[in-house]
Amino acid sequence: MDNRIIGHVKRVNGPVIEASGITDAMMMELVRISEGRLIGEIVKLAGDTAVIQVYEDTTGIKPGDNVYGSGMPLSVELGPGLIGTIYDGIQRPLEELLEACGEFIEKGVTRPSLNRDKKWHFIPTEGLTPGSKIDSGFSLGTIVETARVTHKILVPPGVSGTIISISSEGDYTVENIAAEIETEKGPIAIKFFQRWPIRKPRPVKSRQPLSVPLITGQRVIDTLFPLAKGGTVAIPGGFGTGKTMTQHAVAKWCDADIIVYIGCGERGNEMTDVLTEFPKLVDPRTGTSLMERTILIANTSNMPVSAREASIYTGVTLAEYYRDQGYHVAIMADSTSRWAEALRELAGRMEEMPAEEGFPAYLPTRIAEFYERAGYMIVQDGSEGSVTIIGAVSPPGGDFSEPVTQHTKRFVRCFWGLDRQLANARHYPAISWLDSYSEYLNDVAEWWETTSGAPWLKNRAEIMELLQKEVRLQQVVKLVGPDALPDSQRFTIEVCTLFKNAFLQQNAFDDIDRYSSVEKQVRMLEIILIYARRGAEAIQRGVTVVKLRHMKIVQDIAKMKLSISNDDITGLDKLEVRLERAMDQLESIYE
Ligand SMILES: Nc1ncnc2c1ncn2[C@@H]1O[C@H](COP(=O)(O)OP(=O)(O)O)[C@@H](O)[C@H]1O
Ligand SMILES: [Mg+2]
Repeated sequence: MDNRIIGHVKRVNGPVIEASGITDAMMMELVRISEGRLIGEIVKLAGDTAVIQVYEDTTGIKPGDNVYGSGMPLSVELGPGLIGTIYDGIQRPLEELLEACGEFIEKGVTRPSLNRDKKWHFIPTEGLTPGSKIDSGFSLGTIVETARVTHKILVPPGVSGTIISISSEGDYTVENIAAEIETEKGPIAIKFFQRWPIRKPRPVKSRQPLSVPLITGQRVIDTLFPLAKGGTVAIPGGFGTGKTMTQHAVAKWCDADIIVYIGCGERGNEMTDVLTEFPKLVDPRTGTSLMERTILIANTSNMPVSAREASIYTGVTLAEYYRDQGYHVAIMADSTSRWAEALRELAGRMEEMPAEEGFPAYLPTRIAEFYERAGYMIVQDGSEGSVTIIGAVSPPGGDFSEPVTQHTKRFVRCFWGLDRQLANARHYPAISWLDSYSEYLNDVAEWWETTSGAPWLKNRAEIMELLQKEVRLQQVVKLVGPDALPDSQRFTIEVCTLFKNAFLQQNAFDDIDRYSSVEKQVRMLEIILIYARRGAEAIQRGVTVVKLRHMKIVQDIAKMKLSISNDDITGLDKLEVRLERAMDQLESIYE
């Protein structure tokens, strides 16, 4: 198919090529250009003229060069071998390309996305025999892909019928035939991999309401601004405020089955860091490599912007494929601002009318289309799976009023705003408790309350109210000094300071503190609230704020995140008993 000439290059403008004399092509078709066979995609088609976005360096391409059609849209390969691989924005296996070409990937060099030689051990689904009826999304059998992922070989969307033959247990390459199916349109051979166009969401049975949190072990996230499985969140923040650290913490710790990490090069060296560091990361829970559940998509700085534009669709398509196997998948994109800039550059080269700050008018539509692919779904075979999207946004100068942050805010339901002042003060994670929000609170409250037995929503509301009160009190303090406040109000400030230090701040580099279990988070918050409630009562009876501040137990509360491990819930029980006792004692003096 690739040898079919469908037109000729007319004009080259960086990664954008105009071709003329086009016959027999379709919108979004994958094409190849010149004898170097550069990979491109038709993004506009009018009469016999096409605009082609090229995913490789176009130096050397000249008017008159051939354009070859493929008859299919830009697609990804879906099958065993995805997990643990590092891809570029159009799913070329980066390590293999680098091996083949050295540091600079030569033009037109291709390697299949999925290894063609590797053999996988396939176990067919019990009971499937010639004559069995099957439908799309049905699992023909399984392959153990990594220690953590068992891959289902799915009947592709749109295929249904009767099995003619199915492979028996044994070792196969992805190009072997898993089953032959008699369909209405005749027999079809299903391989161990399938293709899917990146810009088209994979079909599901239905979308479910969200109710299960994505647990990250990061207290400010899980307790104050929780994300739901199948939900969407933006992490906006200026340079150096901790977007990447937050994404990494979530990638390491969250309870998703599969992670798709899309690195849209913030800085040249940051992508290199991802490439060299990520594969070395050890899953702290199992001691195995984190790559056992991770797919990396990396846009290095020497790659054309068009590959960056495509990368988020590539990533979300891979995520949907694992969702369809009944997995919970989390996608991280760092950063969607770099993706939007790629969109802007391409639009500029296509001479499209710029809207806000030079971004094309369709920026909001594109952002929406990306985040809409998140969701908690009943997939085609009736099981459940989800795609959660976590997008970093890096507004220039940290100014959240710019278009990418603003439009993203319209389409995500959770917002972890990073605060420059907190970062400067080394309060990490620098997620602002005043700017951030989660619209999933009510959705996940029941899960939290059933799991922990605590009045989670009420407790959270109580601490948030104190934090908001504190802002007003701090304004007064700024004007007239702390001594002007009555002890009850000074105590509110005291509690908030304790909560910020003992709970909100979390050290990603500390072996105990880097992850807090659900139960530990719930108990830590309760202990701080007991101190807040009983302290407020004590003040009514005449205890001073200085007395409360100097209670020895307060120092132990401040250290509980570091001193009490996740498995040591009795440690928290004991602390709580001691706190109640200390409060009893303090109050008894005033009785
Ligand atoms: N949770 C955290 N714990 C400890 N240090 C952090 C944390 N978050 C950020 N930092 C510090 O801030 C620096 C910058 O964070 P980074 O994620 O690279 O910022 P960004 O991606 O927003 O530019 C990190 O190198 C680290 O020193
Ligand atoms: Mg970063």
